[in-house]
Amino acid sequence: MEILSTLRAAAGGFLSGAEIAQAAGLSRAAIWKQVEELRALGYVIEARPHKGYRLVSVPDRAYPEEVQAGLTTTVYGRKAHYLPAVASTNDEAKRLGALGWPEGTLVVAEYQSAGRGRLGRRWSSPPGGLWFSLIVKPCLALSDLGPLTIVAAVALQRAVRDQTGLETKIKWPNDLVVDGRKLAGILAEASGELGRADLVVIGLGLNVNQEAADFPPEIRPRAVSLRMLAGGTVARVPIVRAFLGHFETLFFQGKQDRYRQALAEASVNSATLGRRVSVATGAGTVEGRALRLDPDGALVIETETGLVRVLSGEAEEAGRHA
Ligand code: BTN
Repeated sequence: MEILSTLRAAAGGFLSGAEIAQAAGLSRAAIWKQVEELRALGYVIEARPHKGYRLVSVPDRAYPEEVQAGLTTTVYGRKAHYLPAVASTNDEAKRLGALGWPEGTLVVAEYQSAGRGRLGRRWSSPPGGLWFSLIVKPCLALSDLGPLTIVAAVALQRAVRDQTGLETKIKWPNDLVVDGRKLAGILAEASGELGRADLVVIGLGLNVNQEAADFPPEIRPRAVSLRMLAGGTVARVPIVRAFLGHFETLFFQGKQDRYRQALAEASVNSATLGRRVSVATGAGTVEGRALRLDPDGALVIETETGLVRVLSGEAEEAGRHA
């Protein structure tokens, strides 16, 4: 909406109807209509006789205009789609990707009625969290998807740290945890042919402003939100914006240096490495000490019979001592 950028540029000061009309190229009637539309979206706009209009506050909803205000990326988040409700942002992103929406498209929803997690699980997605997906068209080998999810996990860690000061750890393969409780999950899905991923969608779910009672009882003891950790409401839009910036930097850099930076950060901030783990894989359970991450995102486990690489699965702690 044209008047939004004009009002935003006034940095909280009043602009007369005439000034807005000139800057936005609109009639007075059109300005009033847009003010009403913006108010309905949650923007607080003061209107005073003889002074004009003033943008008092913006809503903490990941509308494209909000995410893109001050966004530094060139690709990621440059196109964005906001939905008050959707079944799953990953499904919506896949649908849009198949229709030709470009790499970097961000799909965000306030609420998901059928949010999906890894391994076919449900992902509880009430209003107040951040549920979003990115279209990535990497034309990579399917085996290169592991580093991509590590890039996403590290970018999310950095964004949470920037905005809240909170330190998180990555539980392999790519959950964000704080003191063993799950704060965020990542679901990367690819479609393509002959081992190549042509369309990849990365979905991120971050628990932001939920209270403990908002989580389904069965996951309540193991789940946490930023609000519960920070002791108050946390703004979501700056987290999305920061995530996009870090994701783009790490991803572009990673294509040059085989994701060295992301892997190093994920290793330092890992909740898994150095511990005894038990990973259920399609081919059985692998138990031992989690040693390192390989460049393709595989977890290398030192077992009684030697080193074993695990590409996917669920790592559970096998014992207290590393
Ligand atoms: C997991 O930890 O199992 C992954 C959870 C991923 C949840 C996000 S929320 C946005 C996107 N849409 C979905 O349906 N799932 C992902």
